[in-house]
Amino acid sequence: MKETHCLLTIFGATGDLTHRKLLPALYFMEQEKQLKDSFSIICAARKEKSNDQYRKEASDSIRKFSRVKVQDEALSKLLSRIRYQKIEFKNNSYYASLKNLIEEISGIKCSHCERIYYLAVPAEFFGDIITSLKEMGLAGRQESEAYNRIMFEKPFGHDLKSAREMNHAITSVFNESQIYRIDHYMAKELVQNLLVLRFANSIFEPLWNKEYIDHIQITVAETLGVEARGDYYDKAGALRDIIQNHMMQLVSLVAMEEPKKFDIEEIRNQKVKVLKSIKKIAKKDISKIAVKGQYSKGAVGGRDVAAYTEEAEVKKNSRTETYVALKLEIDNKMWKNVPFYLRTGKRLRDRTTEIAIVYKKVPFGLFSKQKPVKNIMVIRVQPYEGITLQFNAKVPGNKVIIDNVDMDFCHECKFGPNSPEAYERLLFDAMNGDQTLFTRWDEVENAWKIIEPLLRDFNDLNPCKYEAGTWGPIEADKLIEKDGRKWIEPKRPSYADQLEK
Ligand code: BG6
Repeated sequence: MKETHCLLTIFGATGDLTHRKLLPALYFMEQEKQLKDSFSIICAARKEKSNDQYRKEASDSIRKFSRVKVQDEALSKLLSRIRYQKIEFKNNSYYASLKNLIEEISGIKCSHCERIYYLAVPAEFFGDIITSLKEMGLAGRQESEAYNRIMFEKPFGHDLKSAREMNHAITSVFNESQIYRIDHYMAKELVQNLLVLRFANSIFEPLWNKEYIDHIQITVAETLGVEARGDYYDKAGALRDIIQNHMMQLVSLVAMEEPKKFDIEEIRNQKVKVLKSIKKIAKKDISKIAVKGQYSKGAVGGRDVAAYTEEAEVKKNSRTETYVALKLEIDNKMWKNVPFYLRTGKRLRDRTTEIAIVYKKVPFGLFSKQKPVKNIMVIRVQPYEGITLQFNAKVPGNKVIIDNVDMDFCHECKFGPNSPEAYERLLFDAMNGDQTLFTRWDEVENAWKIIEPLLRDFNDLNPCKYEAGTWGPIEADKLIEKDGRKWIEPKRPSYADQLEK
C-alpha cells in the first residue's frame, strides 16, 4: 500500500503550548513508534530562525517537559522530522513559501498529502490563517482520500457572537468532519472513564438521577496563578477560561442520558441535550447563583504569592474573575431539583479536579440518632486519579456507633502510571481521524449561550476578594450554605502516599 505523507504544521511553534505540550507529546509518540516514517512536522512562527536553531530549542523543551525519560536516538529522529518556517500570519507571501516547503517535503503536490494544521495561536489569527491556507490551495473541504484537518484550542471566541463568526470562517473552508476543536479535559483518563463508570455498572446507573442524588459538585481548583499569560487571562477570566469549556464538558458527561449506542455523534447529541436543558440564567438571579472572585496576595504551598492585580501584564485595577462559583439547574426529568454546584479558581489551596456525587439521606430513621453521613462518590480527575465511595459502617464494639469510611479505587495502582498525556492522545486521534474527544460546534455554541448572561453581568461587577492559598471567597460558601449544603473539601485519598513513594 502506498504510504501517503502525513504532515503536521504547527502555527505558533515558538509559543508555550508547543514547547510545553505539543513537542513533548510528539516525542512520546516517536518513542512509542506511533509516527509513520514519512511523517514530518513544519513548525511555523513569526520569529526568524534557522532549522538548527529551532531544533535545538525543541530539544531543550522536550528534555525539560517530557514525562518519560528521553532517549537520544528517538529524540534525534523526531528532530530530523522538523523544519522551521517563518510566517507572518497576515502576509500571503509567507504562505507561498509554506506551500513550497510542503511540496518539497512531500515530494508531491500538497493536495495529495495528508495534512493537519494545528493552530497554537490566539484566536484573533485563526481567520487570517485559514483564509490564506485556502487561497493558496493548501486547505479546503476534503475531496480526495488525502485528508486535511484543522486542530485548534479554546477559547473558541470571546463570546457567543465572536464564536459564531469564528465558526463561520472555519466552516467556510473545512467540513465539520475535518475540524478538531480541542478541550484537553476530554482526554483526561478519568473523564473518559465517566461513561464506563456510569453505563457499564449496574450498581451505579439506576441510582444516577433525581430520585437518589441530592446534588452534584464539580471543582476545578488550581494552585497556579496566571503565569506568563496575564495578557490573555485578563481579557478572558475564569468564565471563559474554564467554565465555558472544561466545566461544561464535565457537566454534560455527568448529566447526559445513556446514548443508544457507543457512537460519537450519538454521544455528542446526548451532551448537547444536557446543555440545552440547563436552565437559562436570568439577570435577577445572578447574585443568588453566582460568585465572582479574584485572589489577593497570600501563600500557596508555603510560598508567598502576589495578588492577581500585581501579576505581569494584568491591569492594576483589573476586575477580571480568577474564581467562579455557580449553581446550575438542569430542567429535565432526570435532574429536576438536583443542583449542580460548580467552582473553579486559580491560586487556591490545592490543585484538584473532582466531581462529587452526593446522594440523598436514607429515607427512614433506623440509625437517625447516629447521624449517618450522606453517601458521596468522588470521581477524582486529578491528581491521584481514582474514585472514592464514602459510606457508613459500624465501629467495632458492643454499641452501634456509626462512622463514615471510604472505599478507594486508585487508577494508577491498578493500571500503572503511564496513561497517555492529553496531547499525546489528541494528536494521535486527530492523525487517525477519530473525533470522539473533540467538541462539536453545537456543544461550543450551547455552552456560550449558558454563560452569556454571566459574562454581561460580571463585566460590571467588582469581584469578591479571596486570599491566595484558601478555597476561595466566603461568598462562595454562603452560596451553597444557604441551600443547607456545604462544599466538600477535597482530601488526599488513602492511596496518595503510595503514589508519591
Ligand atoms: C487551560 C486553561 O485550558 O486549562 C488554564 O487555559 C488552566 O488557565 C488549564 O491552567 C488547566 O488544565 P489542567 O489540565 O492543568 O487542569
